[in-house]
Amino acid sequence: MVLSNKKIGVAVAGLGFVGGGTHVPAFKKIPGAKLVAVIDVEEEKARKVSMKRNVNYYLDYKEALKNSEIDAVVVAVPTPFHYELVSEAIASGKHVLCEMPLTPTVVESEKLGEKAKKAGVLLMPDLNFRFTPNYVKAKELIKQSAIGKPLAVTFSEFIPAKDLAVQWPSNSWAWNIEKSGGYPDFTLSVWSIDLVQWLLESDIEDTQWISNYSPLSGIDNFIGYNTIGLIRFSSGAVGVLHYCAYGCSWRRG
Ligand SMILES: NC(=O)c1ccc[n+]([C@@H]2O[C@H](COP(=O)([O-])OP(=O)(O)OC[C@H]3O[C@@H](n4cnc5c(N)ncnc54)[C@H](O)[C@@H]3O)[C@@H](O)[C@H]2O)c1
Repeated sequence: MVLSNKKIGVAVAGLGFVGGGTHVPAFKKIPGAKLVAVIDVEEEKARKVSMKRNVNYYLDYKEALKNSEIDAVVVAVPTPFHYELVSEAIASGKHVLCEMPLTPTVVESEKLGEKAKKAGVLLMPDLNFRFTPNYVKAKELIKQSAIGKPLAVTFSEFIPAKDLAVQWPSNSWAWNIEKSGGYPDFTLSVWSIDLVQWLLESDIEDTQWISNYSPLSGIDNFIGYNTIGLIRFSSGAVGVLHYCAYGCSWRRG
């Protein structure tokens, strides 16, 4: 694929926690890209961001895709809508950076990959841990054999329940297993599952998961979780992944 020196015109679809809070401001710092438009089904949100960034806004995603200034779309809407929005962008010849999880099922993700390949556009899953400076440094050190050949990895992620409840209240898509594929531990595990495979340059070939879900009193309908995955890589290395959302000031119900 030949890319010209022209700035890539970008639209961000979904202006919530990650689209509005992270992707939109990030484009100010990317010299090769220009934010052209923002899209959200909530007009108030779309108007506010468009005024702040001095770009057009759309409420209708399909209408936005007709804009020839848009070369690429960042899909940052809730996961259950990724498949549809990414498919439409690909069909319109736009490149896509899609939030993770790409889709709730592997089959759908593979289909999106095939569609992008056939259309000759880039579909990039937003695996942002690969660009996080401390992980980039870890990868560099592993490559330099600073710690020899890694044989085991542990990853632990704790999110205070009160913060998660603000990001994804109990009525959010993220708590609806049918829409998101799992509880927030499912959604939030995808970056680190990719991270450890990227760091060790080996695929995970076997996993076992156990979870403890307990309602927390003090936050409406919030289900605290402790989820642990035991993993084995094809290299023979092993690992433990731990995802936890609880809070010091919240009692278990
Ligand atoms: N990369 C990361 O670190 C990271 C962090 C959090 C969430 N995420 C992922 O980002 C995605 C969005 O999560 P979020 O927490 O920002 O959700 P959110 O609920 O905060 O925001 C989603 C936004 O999309 C809008 N929207 C819904 N349907 C739309 C449509 N058809 N067209 C346009 N806009 C639409 C909503 O109005 C809302 O403003 C999810 O896939 C999530 O897993 C990634």
